[in-house]
Amino acid sequence: MARSRWYKDMVFYQIWPRSFKDGNGDGMGDLWGVLEKLDYIQSLGCDGIWFSPIYPSPGADCGYDIADYMDIDPQFGGMEAFQKVLEGCHQRGMKLVMDLVVNHTSDEHEWFQKSRQRIDPYTDYYIWRPAREDGKLPNNWDSNFEGKAWTFDEVRGEYYLHLFAVKQPDLNMDNPLVREEVKKILRFWLDMGVDGFREDVITYISKKEGLPDDHLFPIYKGMPCYNHGPHIHEYLAEFKRDVFDHYDCFTLAEAPLVWPKRALKYIDEEQGQLDMMIQFQCQCADCLFTDYLPTKFSLHRMKHAFSSWQKKLWGKAWNMLYLENHDHPRIISRYGSEQYWKQSGKTLAAAMLFQQGTPFIYQGQEIGMLNWQPESADMYEDVQTRYNYAHSNLSKPEDVRLKKMWRSSRDSARTPVQWDDSENAGFTTGTPWFYVNRNYREINVAQQESDPDSILHFYRKAIHLRKELPVVRHGQYREHFFLNGKVYCYSRKMVGEKLLVICSFTEKGTKAKFPAGFDKSTAQCILHNYPDFDSTTLRPYECRVYLWEE
Ligand code: NOJ
Repeated sequence: MARSRWYKDMVFYQIWPRSFKDGNGDGMGDLWGVLEKLDYIQSLGCDGIWFSPIYPSPGADCGYDIADYMDIDPQFGGMEAFQKVLEGCHQRGMKLVMDLVVNHTSDEHEWFQKSRQRIDPYTDYYIWRPAREDGKLPNNWDSNFEGKAWTFDEVRGEYYLHLFAVKQPDLNMDNPLVREEVKKILRFWLDMGVDGFREDVITYISKKEGLPDDHLFPIYKGMPCYNHGPHIHEYLAEFKRDVFDHYDCFTLAEAPLVWPKRALKYIDEEQGQLDMMIQFQCQCADCLFTDYLPTKFSLHRMKHAFSSWQKKLWGKAWNMLYLENHDHPRIISRYGSEQYWKQSGKTLAAAMLFQQGTPFIYQGQEIGMLNWQPESADMYEDVQTRYNYAHSNLSKPEDVRLKKMWRSSRDSARTPVQWDDSENAGFTTGTPWFYVNRNYREINVAQQESDPDSILHFYRKAIHLRKELPVVRHGQYREHFFLNGKVYCYSRKMVGEKLLVICSFTEKGTKAKFPAGFDKSTAQCILHNYPDFDSTTLRPYECRVYLWEE
């Protein structure tokens, strides 16, 4: 089927369902709540939704541990509510994308229950190994979440591999029967009308033969043996050939530790097996590989990440643009400034939204939600946070450890969306399943709807502009003043139309500089975040977008 690549003109909104909006008053976000808010999402200019998992799940990893791939969790409203949301999206001309989590299942999935009892055909659905002769674990790999990657199962009398939580056993993708199951799942949802998939840690699904010890990586031991593994491209090509090629859908691959050159092997438009990639380089301007190893924010690193993906994918593949999702703390608290909350929220939006690619906005990002800062570590829910808190920085005082978690934890960005200043931020009429950020009276959707100068309205304007101006889709990207440690400046250029984006990332203000050839007298400033501006200075976190014709 010829690909229309409709995703290139779109802006997506990511829903992390538990915390988006509760529609039935039980304290948990659900699809009834989503239904109420479809018009709101559309009003932002977003025309697609990516749902983090909404399948039945025990919730050990907030839904990324799936117990049944072909149903919707009753706590989210079940299939009935889902059908309504799907219809509601399509009626509005919006697309709906599901999360495909097939590196692992929940240990409560029927396949695992049968596999541990060696009931065929499920016996080899997972990666089982006996202990080594000396009684040691089958290899030295770490899980990404909870200590070692192997747990002993009493029923089967063997260890199973789990690259994430103990309750998330890895599937054995080398087994053709497992790949057939994946195809069944894909067809099930595509036949129902869903428009594509975000594929969870899909680059992990093929493990190196023999599962050897890893002597290379100091942390996340084992990663070189399963990230971009030996059969990855073969399996992805099989899914494409047998399923995706028969539908007008798109695929978005989550890929830890990937740089553009490697990414092109997956998403090159001529030869790749997937359409877009969630890369982590753009998330590493203030940490080393993971949020749990924070460093000072480096504008250079952020600029380098943006520019390198823009330049290297140009003409070959399509970028997925994002600043936030459910796996990282809030971006203003990281790359921006809580003191210059409004200005930096807007500057970050401008920095991302005029690049080439398909932007994804995470719930609450559009109102500049900030990191949640619990008073005590036992308030954390997330499995990864809990493990990290219990096992790292043990010699440091409690308050220091807690503050580190505010900066690192995924829960910092998982609190309920702040809809208004009523009790529980308008998220639920019941008791919320999770804590609401204390700042909801100052930061909420209702307040920002009524303030034309809000971050929310800035997102709307920016999204509107990017849809209106062909240069945002087609223009060539160029970064200017890349040595400057205070300003991110880039232009987009196509025949007849040029765009210049200037974003200051400093609390002190700095000199305004314009690239050679830029003529202020003919350019029109089409978006900015201060009521007025001059040609010599940029105020704290000031941003401007200029357009001119040539
Ligand atoms: C990546 C997902 O985004 C994250 O939330 C999840 O915990 C892991 N994969 C495991 O599925």
